[in-house]
This record gives sequence, structure tokens and C-alpha cells, in this order.
Amino acid sequence: METASSFDEQDEFVAVAHIDELAPGSMKRFVVSDRALVLANIDGSFHAFEDRCLHWGVKLSNGCLEGNAVRCRAHGWKHDVVRGEIVASEPSGDEGRPVRTFKVIIRDRTVFVGGSIASPKANAAR
Ligand code: FES
Repeated sequence: METASSFDEQDEFVAVAHIDELAPGSMKRFVVSDRALVLANIDGSFHAFEDRCLHWGVKLSNGCLEGNAVRCRAHGWKHDVVRGEIVASEPSGDEGRPVRTFKVIIRDRTVFVGGSIASPKANAAR
């Protein structure tokens, strides 16, 4: 696990990876300001989200990327980390719950993650 330097809850961005570290279809766990996050490369686009399943809190970084979603290894809930919501739960009924996602920018082949939550649904759930 990697620890980034600091994390501002406002709009400050923290460097978390070089783009060559994550091949498409892979994920990387990191910690910023005591918050565990995951960076995923989905078809060349980078997405950051909280490393916590909305079911029982299992690490999503141990799950599997399936398209835009991360499937939790524990019971199979699927978290769409692009739209920022649950797309499959077992038993069903939790679809549409907001998944916390974070802004990502790339500068000079370095991936930066911002403290602001990018998902409007996640913002509404705070
Ligand atoms: S803890 Fe993730 S699906 Fe149950």
C-alpha cells in the first residue's frame, strides 16, 4: 500500500501514480490523509473511489474490475465507479446508492486525485 503526502478536503490534488503504473483493467490502492482510496484504469481513463464496499465495508481494491464497475469479492455487489453508484446488490434493493468518487486529473503523465467528491449522488449522501 502506498501513502500519498497530504489530502485537502477542498480542491487540492495529490499525486498518486504515474500513468504507466496502471495498465487498463488494473487498480491501485493508496492512502491520503488516512482515507483509503483506489485508482482504476478503465479503458485508459482513470477513476478514483473509496476503498470500501457499501455492503459490509470490504476493500474494493481486492475486487474485480468488470467494465465500469468493481465487483466486491465478498458477496458480489457491483460498484459503478464512473457513474458513482451501486448497480448490483445481493439481495437486490441497494442499486442506485451513491459510491464516493473523487476528481482525477493527469499532468505530465502523473495522476492526481482531488479531495472534492465528483459524484453528485455521493455529495447528496454526505
Ligand atoms: S462486503 Fe462487499 S458485497 Fe458484501
